[in-house]
Amino acid sequence: MSKGKILVTGGTGYIGSHTVVELQQSGFDVVIIDDLSNSSIEVVDNIEKITGIKPEFEEFNLQDYAKCETFFEKYTDIKAIIHFAASKAVGESVQEPLKYYRNNLTSLMNLVECQRKYGVQNIVFSSSCTVYGQPEILPVTEETPRKEAESPYGNTKSVCEDILRDSTSAYKNINAIALRYFNPIGAHESALIGENPSGVPNNLVPFITQTAAGIREQLSVFGDDYDTRDGSCIRDFINVVDLAKAHVVAIDRLLSGKNKANYEYFNIGTGDGATVLELINSFMSATGVDLNYKIVGRRDGDIEKIYADTTLANEELGWKAEKTMEETLASAWNWEKHYRGL
Ligand code: UD1
Repeated sequence: MSKGKILVTGGTGYIGSHTVVELQQSGFDVVIIDDLSNSSIEVVDNIEKITGIKPEFEEFNLQDYAKCETFFEKYTDIKAIIHFAASKAVGESVQEPLKYYRNNLTSLMNLVECQRKYGVQNIVFSSSCTVYGQPEILPVTEETPRKEAESPYGNTKSVCEDILRDSTSAYKNINAIALRYFNPIGAHESALIGENPSGVPNNLVPFITQTAAGIREQLSVFGDDYDTRDGSCIRDFINVVDLAKAHVVAIDRLLSGKNKANYEYFNIGTGDGATVLELINSFMSATGVDLNYKIVGRRDGDIEKIYADTTLANEELGWKAEKTMEETLASAWNWEKHYRGL
């Protein structure tokens, strides 16, 4: 028997698609809203190939409030929302801040408005460790104060958290959990879904797999003069399937009323920091590919090091990252090869 229907906005995107798979495999029905601005409709078929179940799909941008209402009038049985749909390119957000504020803030506000109007109590929000900036003390806990964002994109994550904090406090029948992701990497073991950035990738692992596939000539490592064990930046790289599972756990928590406050937020990472050079070495040993890379200057806006204290997620959610870095990087490479037909 179905555990109920979950709306996944941005469900054809990278983290969204993996979350749809995990939801279906835990017994939930899923309806996706996506405007396909940064993903493709084939993802819906690939999800079906993995799970045997085709999620329902509606194509529109959540900035259109009238379409949001039409949606909730059609789907009257939604138990909870997981909200991924957002613009996410850090550099572009600096060039086009209004696009980011308009899309990311309006979409969330429209959803919360519909939660009130249509009585959908629960929402899980896709936040980011970007809200911490460069923390003074590592690992970073949820108690660590947020810092002023480095980019309009990062600021939208912080303001969205404020919108949820204030809305859940004012409108008593709404509950929210924000998950602060560290750096999601890897792909589903089937190699049918994965990260598929348009144009030149900004993020490290897609750049690595595209270089390994011969699409990019060389990976640039941005800086080896940071105050870290090998001079390259430290991040907490979290497997996307592990991350997707955290969403299922958060939904179960809300639906069973186990949340301890109307608004909660959790760090979702491995708890371990790896340097960029360590990740490159793990990639080479996991795949046997000899990666062409060189050290270049620092990238503007990069923070030196961050990794999560995941005690709260481990103890409160009963969730823990399980996959190793090597299996995660092998899954990213398998996805790239499968996607390119290599
Ligand atoms: C960035 C965003 C973060 C967002 C995340 C999405 C910033 C400040 N943060 O995180 O808000 O949630 O993407 O996944 O932009 N690197 C290289 N060469 C490359 C690409 C990256 O050396 O070609 C290095 C970077 O300098 C960094 C690390 O790899 O040290 C990770 O970079 P990236 O994957 O872009 O993620 P973040 O910058 O950590």
